[in-house]
Amino acid sequence: MRMKKLTVFYLLFFFTIAVTLSYVGCSEVENNLAPAPELGIHPPGWADTTSAASKSSADFHGQYIYDNNAWNLTQCKSCHGNDYKGGTTGSSCLTCHTSSGGPQNCRLCHGGASGHSNPPSALNGSNEISTLGVGVHVYHLDSTKYSAPVECNECHLPLEGGFNSPNHLGDNPDGIAEIVFGTLAQTPTPGVTPAPVWNRETATCSNVYCHGDFEIGNNAAAPVWTDPNSVKCGSCHGDPVTGNPNPRPGGLYSHWEGLQITNCYVCHGTVINPQGVIYNKDLHVNGQVNYRPDYRSVMIK
Ligand code: HEC
Ligand code: HEC
Ligand code: HEC
Ligand code: HEC
Ligand code: HEC
Ligand code: HEC
Repeated sequence: MRMKKLTVFYLLFFFTIAVTLSYVGCSEVENNLAPAPELGIHPPGWADTTSAASKSSADFHGQYIYDNNAWNLTQCKSCHGNDYKGGTTGSSCLTCHTSSGGPQNCRLCHGGASGHSNPPSALNGSNEISTLGVGVHVYHLDSTKYSAPVECNECHLPLEGGFNSPNHLGDNPDGIAEIVFGTLAQTPTPGVTPAPVWNRETATCSNVYCHGDFEIGNNAAAPVWTDPNSVKCGSCHGDPVTGNPNPRPGGLYSHWEGLQITNCYVCHGTVINPQGVIYNKDLHVNGQVNYRPDYRSVMIK
């Protein structure tokens, strides 16, 4: 009696294994027919969105893309279609990625904090200014203190064509944004033609017009991308220790020792008010000195 039951059990057991094996074998064959050799069958957990932990598992597709710099989604498109609607798989990305552009939506991989595509968040999910990918994007773009928002393409190449622009990810993305300065950072002034440099090791910019590389500015200033306190009134022109913005005496006629912040408006009244507050950020750090044409006739006691 007991023997018989066991035999039946073993028969069932081996039958199940045989079926499982042939099924796995078949689906492997099926997947081998698909055009992208890089990926086999998706692992379990690939689409498990139930928790933060499941989404940060190495098997989750978002994490896979991050870990393997598969950012241009070329692999995925080879099976799921260029429109992400499923292609040969019949399995659409757009059921979950419902924002415009689907998985190409700018804020899926970076940005989002203020509805913008610049970090935070960074590619690694960090929102900390001390992270290279985050840095002081916000101070340049979302809550500017001293100027109008700085265009992306003053620091990055323009992305005509959006996500698929060759300037964005290219064929072999490395997960590191490229810094290529635009015209503002290179604004020439008499005797100074800035050649801006981004140093990733020290996270500093130097030789940038915007931060002082102009005729009577602080030409050696090297603000730190990950430290907002490295820029203040006086760090680009004037005295960074006291915060006095008064530029080095020099230039044509203007600026002498003893000039007060409450004097600036007399000549630069379209930019700064009598209290010494920059009220028109659009005209500050815009590549032009804005001053009254009859400044020579101005008398300041
Ligand atoms: C070799 C072809 C192939 C490639 C390459 C491929 N997939 Fe798939 N994918 C499939 C097939 C077939 C299915 C449906 C069967 C399954 O779930 O295994 C699927 C299912 C999925 C699902 C599950 C959908 C659901 O609703 O549960 C997700 C998510 C997914 N793929 C994402 C990706 C991503 C992201 C990439 C690129 C990194 C990618 N796939 C690359 C073939 C592929
Ligand atoms: C079952 C729902 C679902 C499907 C189907 C799906 N995704 Fe996702 N995907 C997610 C979720 C959830 C995240 C995590 C987003 C987050 O945490 O904000 C994610 C993240 C991503 C990311 C972000 C990677 C990163 O590190 O920032 C990319 C890119 C992506 N998916 C591409 C795809 C592609 C391509 C497809 C189709 C081939 C696909 N997804 C199908 C739910 C899905
Ligand atoms: C003032 C210069 C500046 C401006 C303006 C700027 N960026 Fe950046 N961006 C940087 C620097 C510096 C880095 C860090 C580069 C590195 O890691 O080497 C960076 C990195 C990035 C990264 C990669 C993030 C990561 O996690 O590694 C993205 C994405 C990005 N920027 C998008 C944008 C977008 C979108 C805009 C416009 C809305 C923009 N940036 C405007 C300087 C700038
Ligand atoms: C699938 C993820 C993903 C999506 C979606 C995405 N990006 Fe990016 N983006 C990246 C990565 C990764 C980098 C870092 C550059 C690299 O790896 O070469 C980057 C870098 C950037 C940069 C910095 C300059 C550069 O190319 O190095 C800008 C600007 C940018 N993205 C804008 C956008 C815009 C605008 C969109 C929407 C049209 C967008 N991104 C959508 C992943 C993405
Ligand atoms: C009497 C008029 C006058 C006053 C007052 C004055 N400026 Fe100027 N400023 C000028 C003129 C004219 C220029 C452009 C020509 C030059 O460089 O001398 C200029 C240029 C500048 C520049 C740009 C320099 C460059 O190299 O591009 C800065 C910065 C500046 N002023 C800041 C200030 C500040 C801060 C104050 C107040 C503390 C101030 N100015 C007060 C007339 C004045
Ligand atoms: C991020 C660097 C930076 C900081 C910080 C900065 N400036 Fe300037 N400032 C400039 C540049 C660059 C110019 C040259 C003219 C231009 O491009 O607008 C300038 C010019 C000026 C001018 C001349 C008018 C004009 O055309 O802009 C005044 C006045 C001035 N700054 C006042 C101040 C005061 C006051 C502070 C502190 C509250 C300050 N600046 C902080 C970069 C800076």
